[in-house]
Amino acid sequence: MSLEQSAASLTLSESGRKFWICELQGHDVEGNGTEKMPFRTLLRAFEAAGGATGEFAVRKNVAEGYQPAAKAAIKKALKLYEANVKKAQKAAERSAAEKEEAALNAAAEQAKLEEARKIVLSEDPALPVAKKIRIRDSTDNRGARVKVSGWVHRLRVQGKDMMFVVLRDGSGYIQCVLTGRQCHTYDALTLSVESTVTIHGTIKVVPEGKSAPGGHELVADYWAVLGKAPGGDDAFGSKLNAESSPDILLDQRHLVIRGETASSVLRVRALLLKGFRDFFDSRHLTEVTPPLMVQTQVEGGSTLFEFDYYGEKAYLTQSSQLYLETCLASIGDVYCLTESFRAERSHTRRHLSEFTHCEVELAFIAFDDLLDMMEDMVVSVIGSIMSHPVGSKIVAELNPNFKVPKKPFRRMNYVDAIAWLREHGIKKDVKDENDVKIGEADFEFGDDIPEGPERRMTDTIGEPILLCRFPAEVKSFYMKKCPEDRRLTESVDLLMPGVGEVVGGSMRISDLDELFEGYKREGIDPTPYYWFTDQRKYGTCEHGGFGLGVERLLAWLLDRYTVREVCLYPRFMGRCQP
Ligand code: 4AD
Repeated sequence: MSLEQSAASLTLSESGRKFWICELQGHDVEGNGTEKMPFRTLLRAFEAAGGATGEFAVRKNVAEGYQPAAKAAIKKALKLYEANVKKAQKAAERSAAEKEEAALNAAAEQAKLEEARKIVLSEDPALPVAKKIRIRDSTDNRGARVKVSGWVHRLRVQGKDMMFVVLRDGSGYIQCVLTGRQCHTYDALTLSVESTVTIHGTIKVVPEGKSAPGGHELVADYWAVLGKAPGGDDAFGSKLNAESSPDILLDQRHLVIRGETASSVLRVRALLLKGFRDFFDSRHLTEVTPPLMVQTQVEGGSTLFEFDYYGEKAYLTQSSQLYLETCLASIGDVYCLTESFRAERSHTRRHLSEFTHCEVELAFIAFDDLLDMMEDMVVSVIGSIMSHPVGSKIVAELNPNFKVPKKPFRRMNYVDAIAWLREHGIKKDVKDENDVKIGEADFEFGDDIPEGPERRMTDTIGEPILLCRFPAEVKSFYMKKCPEDRRLTESVDLLMPGVGEVVGGSMRISDLDELFEGYKREGIDPTPYYWFTDQRKYGTCEHGGFGLGVERLLAWLLDRYTVREVCLYPRFMGRCQP
């Protein structure tokens, strides 16, 4: 409580009054200086008395009780009181002076802005007409008069007559230099990051010893604001900065994607999708776009998103695989690059509720053909990014230690993985009926290898692994059994160091009866699968395919901590916006 506040709060303040001060139980804030509610200190009594003298009874210990205050103590307290009063007065004077100065500055600033409003820029009609270009075309237009529109990515004011604006238009960045009157307008004085502007001028190579994106800068001869972004508390930099928490970054994802890293990731994502399409095109696979609203499951009921479809139960698709299988007899080998959905109940670095699924289905193949195709695809799409000027630059920036995977990938059978885990002392958790861990044990044939142990194995081996031939019990109903060992399936997961499983695939059951066994084993009612079953009825064939999680491949390629960082707007448990 300040001196003024405490004096004001004490209504009994008067000179000549008797004050009670108890050094044992008194209270300077809650007390009022009466015998019932004594103060704790003499200083407080002086504050209450406004510095005037009075009668002061002080109790230092129980035995002596209240005694008149000693003269020396009164003198000391009075001196302290007077010093405090002076200090408070000075502080009040200082604060008033500061307020006055701030008001004067604000008025001067306002006047300067009003004055600046009078400065209106206009284009010099004698100059050649400015050609509208995108920043990516800057190098080709060096020396010509151009106009570029974009967002103010960075802003640096140097003195009164020079401003540097790094402009961003989605196709690149260019440094623009504004000089003289161009820096005196109202818009120049109030320009903020993320405002949109159009700048006219000439692109010149930067002087020796200076650097700028692309090695050139746009020397402005005219410029105008299109849309001003707010300053102050609402400024872009106040909403997002290096200290922003992950939740804020997710809430503000629409602004985060304007940043250099996030936009680079999105660029590589686009290159990757193109890489897939180019590869499939080279292998004569046709793209299809299967429905996302479905009435069948593919990968188990526990991760199905269910919704009401005009009164019927329907789901968001977990995988388009079953639909791709139906296309084989129509247009041959097919692929799709579309969304899949999983109601994942856990927060892991590699699980999303919605992910981009690259799925492939091939007819008249054997298991080895499938493995070769997976390998070729991964090597080809990564190669396409590494040979792209923008893609390779971004990978080098975000993942400088990236090693391009080479064929052939290590091929390992599930049974060998179980042996590897046992040899390396990596154990499985033993849980009770409530899923609570009660101990550890060695992995056994038939166990599903969970994410943690699988990651440890992949990270230790340190290279891509095609993990093959899982037991039927841990895999989906549609997987073909191995002819050499009917306990196993012709199935495969591609594991990458750092992220783990990136691709899952298998040969499919081609025999009608075996498919019915699969439905039965997994407790699936075959009725709504009639169209899938029909593939085995109307001309069956050995076929197989796989699904690759685009976000997992990207997180691996760009060394991102989680798949959430490589989505445009990630969806996971607890997040469905923006
Ligand atoms: O192994 P999954 O579940 O296989 C299938 O869906 C098959 N029907 C695909 C097929 O054969 N056409 O998923 C395939 C891949 C995984 O390896 C993983 O990369 C990705 O899809 N994936 C996920 N990515 C992000 N978040 C999730 N919740 C994912 N679930 C699967």
